[in-house]
Amino acid sequence: MKPRSITASNLILTLDLEPHGEGGFFRRTYQADHRDMLETTGGPRYLMTSIYYLLTEESPVGQFHFNQSDILHYFHLGDPIEYSLIHADGSLQTLVMGSNVLAGQQPQLHVPGGIWKASMLLNGSDGFGLISEAVSPGFDFADMEMGNRQKLTAQYPQHRTLIEKLTRGED
Ligand code: GUN
Repeated sequence: MKPRSITASNLILTLDLEPHGEGGFFRRTYQADHRDMLETTGGPRYLMTSIYYLLTEESPVGQFHFNQSDILHYFHLGDPIEYSLIHADGSLQTLVMGSNVLAGQQPQLHVPGGIWKASMLLNGSDGFGLISEAVSPGFDFADMEMGNRQKLTAQYPQHRTLIEKLTRGED
């Protein structure tokens, strides 16, 4: 029997993913609930959590958002994904996650807590890009802020075009 090719829709079904508020699709795969919670300034958190995260042609952008926790990203399958990171000093770092290591793509990416991050699926033959994230201290909505276009462009006017592309507008 011919193997069924992997598509965005059969990945969403097989991995049981749901739409993420930032764009894309996700499912939490792990939380360290067999260990003591970690006391943070924001309250108790799991030591670590993990998700699958998928970008597709229909939902190709993970909008700018801010996390307190460190996040490790691991690329699995599909087309490369471009990451835009705005550091606290306003500097912009752009890099690509993917499997073409010889072309400079990264299979693993560490994003420290305290910076703004957005991701965008690059054009390719698959129409999706699948990664995993490991978050420590574990993800909690209280530690996350979605990027507000007006606020972010006021804070980082040098990145206006990028911010407008990678945030949701009011209109
Ligand atoms: N981003 C990274 N981890 C998570 C998670 O567990 N839940 C949600 N909603 N977003 C995340």
